[in-house]
Amino acid sequence: MSDPRPIGLFDSGVGGLTVLREVVRRLPDESTIYLGDNGRAPYGTRSDDEVRRFSTECLDELARRDVKAIVVACNTSTSVALPDLRRRYDVPILGVVRPGATAAALATRTRRVGVIATPATIRSHAYFQAIKDENPFVEVYEHATPELVPLVEAGKLRGQEVDDAVRRSLAPLMGSRAADGEWVFPLPSDARIDTLLLACTHYPLLSDAIVAAAGDGVAVIDSASATASVLAELLAVNELRAPVGGRPLHLQLTTGDVERFRSTAAILFGAEFASVEPVVVPAAA
Ligand code: DGL
Repeated sequence: MSDPRPIGLFDSGVGGLTVLREVVRRLPDESTIYLGDNGRAPYGTRSDDEVRRFSTECLDELARRDVKAIVVACNTSTSVALPDLRRRYDVPILGVVRPGATAAALATRTRRVGVIATPATIRSHAYFQAIKDENPFVEVYEHATPELVPLVEAGKLRGQEVDDAVRRSLAPLMGSRAADGEWVFPLPSDARIDTLLLACTHYPLLSDAIVAAAGDGVAVIDSASATASVLAELLAVNELRAPVGGRPLHLQLTTGDVERFRSTAAILFGAEFASVEPVVVPAAA
């Protein structure tokens, strides 16, 4: 059996495109509809109630479009709203926290994982719990980095401003360079992480700066490819894969500025992929 209906993906903005990219790579026959709530991003500094309400309004839009599954490609929404979303819709919903947590627990050799995410994700401790569910022996250092999403939403992916913001954001986890060039660590040296989990789907768009700031000996990982693998497996097990050799369609919707969305999408996918349409949701208060 097969199912040609599209897969829906949702994020507060352009970050979930990093998950979409892996889904398209992994599942080239599948059609997709991506919805970015750029008009109301960032979510990560909002209240849990707002994150739940906005996520519901966006998923209502995807559910109306007859998708066969929805990937909540937003850690903030997954951390705060996933149980409510699953109760609301018949369509199967996959989040990004569990795949990311599994990847991190498998990647660490020293059993010390740093997690950077939005304030709302960190406040939920969803990653702490999920990594501990995988392996309770792993130490999890969670740290909110609210400076980063606004940069990505503004299309700033590299340059001095990005490097400075990334270095500042990571300093409490990674240490910082002293004037003599030596690294100074706020964490005791025997507590140094060997794995840094990018627990916000926007952050892989800054991966050049993050990898440079993290330095040698720290594996920088994210949940995008792990989520795509889990999705592929679930579609296969449930006999919901699209027929092989069809002509998959990819549509992207944004509640924000279409041109800005298109330019970030073009960086990830090339200009020909960027079929972007506006979509209207209630305004943020
Ligand atoms: N990309 C989202 C996440 O993974 C949300 C970022 C935001 O809107 O603050 O958490």
